[in-house]
Amino acid sequence: MVERETWATRLGFILAAIGSAVGLGNIWRFPFQTASSGGSAFLAVYLLAVVVIGIPTILAEFVIGRRSHLDAINAFRRLGRPKWWFVGAIGVVGSFWTLSYYSVVGGWVIRYVVGSLNGNALTAPGDYFGAVSAGPEAVAFHAAFMLVTVVIVAFGIERGIELATKFMVPSIVVLLLGLAVFAATLPGSGQGYEFLLAFDASAIADNAAQVIPAAVGQALFSLSLGFSVMITYASYIGKDDNLVTDGLTIAVANTFVGVLAGLVVLPLLATQTGDPGSGGPGAVFVAIPTALANLPAGRAIGVVFFLVVLIAALSSSISLLEAVTSYIVDRGYSRMPTAAGLGGIVFLLGVPSAWDTAWLGWFDGISVSLFLPIAVLLVVLFVGWVMGRDAADELRQGMSTEGIAPVWLWALRTFVLVAVVGVVALNLYDLFTV
Ligand code: PHE
Ligand code: NA
Repeated sequence: MVERETWATRLGFILAAIGSAVGLGNIWRFPFQTASSGGSAFLAVYLLAVVVIGIPTILAEFVIGRRSHLDAINAFRRLGRPKWWFVGAIGVVGSFWTLSYYSVVGGWVIRYVVGSLNGNALTAPGDYFGAVSAGPEAVAFHAAFMLVTVVIVAFGIERGIELATKFMVPSIVVLLLGLAVFAATLPGSGQGYEFLLAFDASAIADNAAQVIPAAVGQALFSLSLGFSVMITYASYIGKDDNLVTDGLTIAVANTFVGVLAGLVVLPLLATQTGDPGSGGPGAVFVAIPTALANLPAGRAIGVVFFLVVLIAALSSSISLLEAVTSYIVDRGYSRMPTAAGLGGIVFLLGVPSAWDTAWLGWFDGISVSLFLPIAVLLVVLFVGWVMGRDAADELRQGMSTEGIAPVWLWALRTFVLVAVVGVVALNLYDLFTV
């Protein structure tokens, strides 16, 4: 048997996990979701969800991965009763499913880098988005994005994912910081910040049954939870990592980039219509170019902005593909053809989403309100009640702060579980009452 791969360094693992977490969720989904569901009130629920559910769950996924040193499906088989393999399978299928449309949006982003460069994206933004987001061209760029994803994953953990994210993550942070400074100089930027800062509790109170699951879903999606990705990444690390510090670092970095993206996107959007909340998923792709068209250095800013989005999307898509690839590779197949074959299947699954954004919305809905919360619920249940003390023992490895492990286990067994059950219930309620 071939020896299983590992990360070359602890920092390599952390950067890869941050790369997975930071993605379209932060730059494309987070700003307009925040603005359209109560600004800082949504932000408050989101942050609460990161701390109360997100951090305990990311540690749960780390524990499953590192204890088993196996792909997500076999990890559950090894650690629990054999029948629990299906929890890993739900995550792996979720990854597959999510990557299919994530890559479609990634394809749009490639178009927008080029379209900003030659100016086409800025002249008639609405028409441009319409042309880019449907039909054969969208399929072609979806294929291009998948191809890059496959190539990185084909090179493996150390020489593919770790090497790539070592460059990608610092680039994202540096470029976004630059853009945020630039955005601060725009006239009306204050109005943009207000959407983040204006605390509108009524926006939540009036629609609690939708806003709360949406904010929790956004928090979990943003941390790459529920799709077996963090399980898979943690299966490549050694015993001496302090999982608690790693998990906190990743959660803080992810939230920081989310807020930073808001500080770039919201002032830009505020330069025009004044309401960044309207427009939904297409908002960033239409409103940002519209705003850029009126700025002196608009095209250059557009190239940098969409390049950041592209890098962030790629460092996430490779993690989604790795979660699936790892399962096949652990069964003894070689990595390169596996990555290529899986990439091809994911590509086909994404064709409807590329053809018509209505499909994309449907795929995204199933992913974030069905697969994700159910998988997270099962992970919490598994680690809290099936692994139990073993899980606490695993968390203690490589950790100096002994006291956290039992508190964490108790949290998983009680309020985290209750909160996730509530979110699943609300999601199912929303899904079947519209
Ligand atoms: N966290 C990524 C984002 O915010 C999306 C993602 C979810 C990636 C799940 C991998 C697994 O865009
Ligand atoms: Na994210």
